[in-house]
Amino acid sequence: MKESLISARNFFSEIVYKNIFKKIFFLIEPEKIHNRFIQLGRKLGQKSFNRNLVGFCFNYSNPKLNQNILGLNFSNPIGLAGGFDKNADLIEILPMIGFGFAEVGSVTAQSYAGNAQPRLWRLKKSRGLVVNYGLKNDGAKKIFEKIKNKKIAIPLGLNIAKTNSRETTDIEAGVNDYFQTYRLFSNLNQIGYFTINISCPNTYDSQSWSEPVRLNQLLDKFDSLKSAKPIFLKISPDLNDQEVETIIAVSQNHRVNGFICSNLTKNRANALLVDDSIPISGGVSGRPVKDLSDRQIGLIYKKSEGRFLIIGCGGIFSAQDAYAKIKLGASLVELITGLIFEGPQLISQINQGLIRLMKKDGFNSISQAIGNAN
Ligand SMILES: Cc1cc2nc3c(=O)[nH]c(=O)nc-3n(C[C@H](O)[C@H](O)[C@H](O)COP(=O)(O)O)c2cc1C
Repeated sequence: MKESLISARNFFSEIVYKNIFKKIFFLIEPEKIHNRFIQLGRKLGQKSFNRNLVGFCFNYSNPKLNQNILGLNFSNPIGLAGGFDKNADLIEILPMIGFGFAEVGSVTAQSYAGNAQPRLWRLKKSRGLVVNYGLKNDGAKKIFEKIKNKKIAIPLGLNIAKTNSRETTDIEAGVNDYFQTYRLFSNLNQIGYFTINISCPNTYDSQSWSEPVRLNQLLDKFDSLKSAKPIFLKISPDLNDQEVETIIAVSQNHRVNGFICSNLTKNRANALLVDDSIPISGGVSGRPVKDLSDRQIGLIYKKSEGRFLIIGCGGIFSAQDAYAKIKLGASLVELITGLIFEGPQLISQINQGLIRLMKKDGFNSISQAIGNAN
């Protein structure tokens, strides 16, 4: 399809989404809508006719967005962040919506039903969500079985966290729990890379795996299994510069390929939190995370001097938001909240917008833009 036709298609989808669907969805309890989307996406992904139809409605491709990163082919730099497709229900439909990659999870060794409901809230004015799922997922074995025979058209990351339970609170038990999931998936062809989620804000014990002794022990264990698959650490946007530098220093001694900046913020003093009522428990996504994530990307890009790759995440609602992260040093970016607030055409809109922004800056390929902010 020609660029102008795709722009018109996306514009039409945006109008329909924002004026009809979003208005209805936002009247319904957020978790209910999330679950309905998962059911619908799973069904659509099962039949090739449906997949092609979704592709026709949403897909966009341009060779200028292709990158080969750590041996993986990314057709574009926009991914689905961890936490939306917790149990690998959407892996067949996500490429047709236009995603260049996606993360499944967070997956934990044991299944967990999640924290008490309600555990998901919309912050309409702040353009964010408050999330307190507490690592709800079906557990590693069940998710492994679901993925193992599937053909997946994009690089898939497995986001691993520690089972949210009393039994995994001491360090050794926690390390073993993380590792159990890693070992199970380490040879699964469908998994392109691993994310170790060291920053879930909603766990039983609220322990920080960013703390150097704990992190070192965790990464020692991961080093013990020889695997060629890249490993990213997903970090909190609430860390100060010193804490980020410590994580970089620890990671330098281990088989870590990069960082995902960043997870949800817990800080309720964020000036961008402007809704009248904000739940106390849970982490915040969306716009309030954007600047924190951008700052962290810039810091890590400068400090790591090319040693680490960065996946930018937090508050991406437009091509400009994604491009800013890329110019600060992110090779790839991922999102959830933007998709919910803007609609499924957003992925195509961002990718098409990136081409325009790159052209303005005189870049022929997205990789030329990485770290080019000055
Ligand atoms: C509903 C929801 C569930 C999430 N669950 C997880 C999770 O299980 N693991 C994880 O690493 N991050 C999780 N996150 C955090 C996102 O991956 C992402 O880091 C954060 O939302 C910032 O991106 P965004 O502003 O584009 O949503 C979740 C976010 C949302 C909105």
